[in-house]
Amino acid sequence: MSTTTWFDYSPYAMTYKERPEYVPDVIQAMLRTSGVAPGDPVCDIGAGSGHLTEPLLEFGLRVDAVEPTAAMRALGERRTAPFPGVTWYEGTGESSGRPSEGYRLVTFGSSFDRTDRPSALKETARLLMPGGFFACLWNHRDLEDPLQARIEQLIHHHVPGYGYGIRRTDQSAVIEESGLFTSPVKLSGRKTFHLPADAWCDAWASHATLGEQAGDAFGAIVDGIRALVRAEGTDRIAVPYVTRVWIARLGDGAGR
Ligand SMILES: C[S@@+](CC[C@H](N)C(=O)[O-])C[C@H]1O[C@@H](n2cnc3c(N)ncnc32)[C@H](O)[C@@H]1O
Repeated sequence: MSTTTWFDYSPYAMTYKERPEYVPDVIQAMLRTSGVAPGDPVCDIGAGSGHLTEPLLEFGLRVDAVEPTAAMRALGERRTAPFPGVTWYEGTGESSGRPSEGYRLVTFGSSFDRTDRPSALKETARLLMPGGFFACLWNHRDLEDPLQARIEQLIHHHVPGYGYGIRRTDQSAVIEESGLFTSPVKLSGRKTFHLPADAWCDAWASHATLGEQAGDAFGAIVDGIRALVRAEGTDRIAVPYVTRVWIARLGDGAGR
């Protein structure tokens, strides 16, 4: 195991799989921008339960999936077992253990914010072949949606000053300041998912950003969200998500 500090997702692993997928058109746009073709090698870091690994494999890429939390890695291994082109490794964004110049694309699906970002960018530059791409992305609930606005109100009632931290901020500056990549391109797209209401509520128990800040109130908040969703009176709820990607090419003069 790497000696790097990493954020242990074990308490959140069980319900993580209930989260919605990334907006498919945005994933396709990310892959087009990176210029990868089926068969190309990709390293997916902080791969977790395989939410991003799976669409990468569906595209036909060969994926080395790197994940520090054993419980998340076990879920990811199970989920991606039907695909021949994937290998799972223990490691982190800062110390992946993967070979230098081995990949055309290195991805961080909702995991870049869990790294020391300058160190993870340096490690990514080491992993990339010349001309390769770095991409980080997140799924953001659209907080303007009326149900989501009520949920936000509930959260802020329990956790005054609640914030989403780095996961909802612009990543351009940290990428540019590394001096290792060209200016990042931002891609985003919105999709409304029609999801089983109970499973969507269950997935809140995997929300590490909320769990960290809520402390003892976490259970009460998840119960409160369930009550708000049940009040909608439907088995399936419509939840709009925006997938946001920052993608940048390794600079020609990247001092690695
Ligand atoms: C929110 S989950 C994302 C999982 C998956 N990639 C996805 O797209 O849904 C964040 C993952 O980052 C992992 N992680 C925590 N610290 C990390 C680090 N320093 N480097 C890489 N991954 C880390 C966690 O174990 C967890 O599985």
